[in-house]
Amino acid sequence: MKKISKAAVIGGGTMGNGIAHIFSMHGITIHLVERNRELADKALETITGNLDRMVGKEKIDATRKEETLDRIVTFTDTAKAVGEVDLVVEAVPENFDLKRELFSEIDKAAPGEAILASNTSSISITRLAATTSRADKFIGMHFFNPVPVMKLVEVVKGLQTSDETVAVIEKTAQRLDKNAVVVSDYPGFVSNRVLMPMINEAIYCVYEGVAEPEEVDQVMKLGMAHPMGPLRLADFIGLDVCLDILNVLHDGFKDPKYRPCPLLVKMVDAGRLGDKTGEGFYSYD
Ligand code: CAA
Repeated sequence: MKKISKAAVIGGGTMGNGIAHIFSMHGITIHLVERNRELADKALETITGNLDRMVGKEKIDATRKEETLDRIVTFTDTAKAVGEVDLVVEAVPENFDLKRELFSEIDKAAPGEAILASNTSSISITRLAATTSRADKFIGMHFFNPVPVMKLVEVVKGLQTSDETVAVIEKTAQRLDKNAVVVSDYPGFVSNRVLMPMINEAIYCVYEGVAEPEEVDQVMKLGMAHPMGPLRLADFIGLDVCLDILNVLHDGFKDPKYRPCPLLVKMVDAGRLGDKTGEGFYSYD
């Protein structure tokens, strides 16, 4: 079976820098691509901070931190970055046209044998795969925030993804010390098909005056042992991202049970997107 020794990660935001961090920490050379040098430096700074946190907690030693950083090379040119890699993991914003253009460039520049993976949380893997010349080597590799901490990789098998590609990605996830769960490509996969209706229902509780956000979250934290309540989690994920995913579920299944709560729509319209804007269901400094 093909072994991944060099991978490119496209996008150095919250998910991309976490993905680069864990691949490199487990011995895989990383080409990390950002749009410009400033963003590339910022991604490296975040990875360094998260590695320092792990050294502080004695999860890794200082040598492993340095080795991890040494294996990450940053690029601003996607074609150059993917030229000699075994795997490309895309982690850019959730916009189909943006991803389609990017994968068309990657498909031309990456070696014919390279596997192309998307970290998308909601866009169809089958549809993205069909825009490339290697749908059999195209797969979803869906990570969870914070990537260095969360144990799951949801591996999404598109209609044309080969069994060999699934096997390589499952094995790679194990090397990253993650558990791979293989699912079929339907809207929201499993993770967001289950999570987002829960978050939406929590928002309806606030919208209908059943309870305040703090109370809804306390019920789920104390009664169901969730590490974060659904509204705190919605802020952490980003309310715009939650709305996008609910719209994908609503459009994909044409089922009113996925209808986004009007309060969620209103908050996104107001630019109250959660942690990243400092205001959501809670306020953040
Ligand atoms: N890098 C490395 N380590 C990190 C980290 C990072 N970015 N962020 C947190 N950690 C570590 C901390 O060092 C800490 O380690 P110890 O257990 O050794 O002390 C541990 O994670 C817990 O962190 P904190 O003590 O700072 O805070 P906490 O106990 O409140 O936990 C949390 C924070 C891990 C985020 C926890 O609240 C949690 O699990 N929340 C749920 C997160 C979740 O559901 N994520 C999935 C979102 S959905 C998604 O991502 C995909 C999608 O498609 C929408």
